[in-house]
Amino acid sequence: MGIALRNTETWKLLEKHYLEIKDIHLRSLFENDRSRGRNLVIKDIGVYFDYSKNRITGKTIDLLIRLARERGLESRRDEMFAGEKINVTEERAVLHTALRVPVGSVVMSDGRNVVPDVLTVLEKMSAFSEKIRNGEWKGHTGKPIKNIVNIGIGGSDLGPVMAYEALKNYSMRSLVFRFVSNVDSSDFYEAVEDLSPEETLFIISSKTFTTLETMTNAHTARKWSLSKLGDPSAVARHFVAVSTNEKEVIKFGIDPLNMFGFWDWVGGRYSMSSAIGLSTMIAVGPETYYRMLNGLHQMDEHFRTAPLDKNIPVIMGLLGIWYNNFFGTQTQAVFPYDKYLHRFPAYLQQLTMESNGKNVTLDGDKTDYQTGAIYWGEPGTNGQHSFYQLLHQGTKLIPADFIGFMKPLNNLPPHQDYLIANLIAQGEALAFGKTEEEVKAEGVSNALTPHKVFEGNRPSSTFLLDKLSPENLGKLIAMYEHSVFVQAVIWDINPFDQMGVELGKVLAKNIIPELQDTAMTLSHDGSTNELINYYRKNRLND
Ligand code: F6P
Repeated sequence: MGIALRNTETWKLLEKHYLEIKDIHLRSLFENDRSRGRNLVIKDIGVYFDYSKNRITGKTIDLLIRLARERGLESRRDEMFAGEKINVTEERAVLHTALRVPVGSVVMSDGRNVVPDVLTVLEKMSAFSEKIRNGEWKGHTGKPIKNIVNIGIGGSDLGPVMAYEALKNYSMRSLVFRFVSNVDSSDFYEAVEDLSPEETLFIISSKTFTTLETMTNAHTARKWSLSKLGDPSAVARHFVAVSTNEKEVIKFGIDPLNMFGFWDWVGGRYSMSSAIGLSTMIAVGPETYYRMLNGLHQMDEHFRTAPLDKNIPVIMGLLGIWYNNFFGTQTQAVFPYDKYLHRFPAYLQQLTMESNGKNVTLDGDKTDYQTGAIYWGEPGTNGQHSFYQLLHQGTKLIPADFIGFMKPLNNLPPHQDYLIANLIAQGEALAFGKTEEEVKAEGVSNALTPHKVFEGNRPSSTFLLDKLSPENLGKLIAMYEHSVFVQAVIWDINPFDQMGVELGKVLAKNIIPELQDTAMTLSHDGSTNELINYYRKNRLND
């Protein structure tokens, strides 16, 4: 990239503009513009995105969009969709968007249309899912499969578990789904404790098929299965693999016929619409799964074609830059007002933080500005009775995303109105607060008044959708995926590698034999040596 971000004229203008705006209260922004709540809204593809309660003016958006243009957002976006190798550190294309294109589309990567391969895998997944769902696929002893256990971690777990939970209302309730990710033996133990191996299918989900946690759990699962089923040929009826690494899948003992492939141009945290979604498809059926893909594609198309100032992921991404780099905020909260989305914040943590937690530019220069925010959240209204206190009256500025649905999936009046009233009220309270005069007017004593004042001026965005349909889930996922990309382009970082996870993995591999063989000499730092020694002395000796 040419000129360094902070040296660009637009960045300097934004710094100046920040000084103009930082003390302006949302109260006055709304008082001075009666149509703000209507104007600072984008309505497209069934998403109502209200960003009016952000500390911005028209000038802020103009400048941020100018910055996006200068940083080449449109051309970078087009390069991504065109299959160019924009993951420069790994020399890979980034084509998760090709996983959800309609039949007949053409998406080229390395001179080859990848869509037929995508469709072939989807067809194989559909056929397999149907066989499990209708009981045609029998276990080794002739019993149908009742339990599906997905073993994977990171993107090979968080997408599947989030989507299963989000779409539970559409799932086949006679099937049991479990998700094992942690190398902690209790994770596996609890997942299978009440299951019978005869009726249990394991999906070993791993892009690389070498991940320590997943392979350890997969071997334990095989032992657990065979301890009851005896015959190693049972693996063929009880284990399938989702991976890009056929060699390792075969080595593990899974027939490639029972393998569902994907490609190196699908990043782990962008993989939930690849074969990594197999457990989701079994749970909800191919038709419902295709509806989710359709929603993802609708948002891809919106991102690809909508003008920047009417583009939801673009505005979201730019607001993130505005708070992170000018207001100096550290975190971004996400509050889905829907129980089914309870794993969505955890899913977003990998998506956003593994993508944009970087401190060097594409050219390898150290950034002299902040990058990825810390994402966190919980479903409303639980958070309101827990940590929202800090949002309202604490000393930190935390931009928040509120996500809600007009129609409940389970209608038990008056729950829905109470839920949405709370969502709307929180954005209102954060933005406008309660002044000293208002508190005093209620007859509150002077001593208590400061405790009851809400400063307000705390920013939030609100997303309203019709209901938590498979399409709308897809839209929400792609919306965050693309907002991450927008930010990465501005920051000139690579959101598609994850080299920061490597060091810990390597060090753990070194420490494993040192824990097991107490005769090994330790040559770590003083603290690490002592921790290993303490564990050696106090571990369970079996
Ligand atoms: O360690 C991080 C990571 O590589 C993630 O990016 C990925 O989603 C996860 O591990 C799991 O990797 P795999 O699917 O190859 O097992």
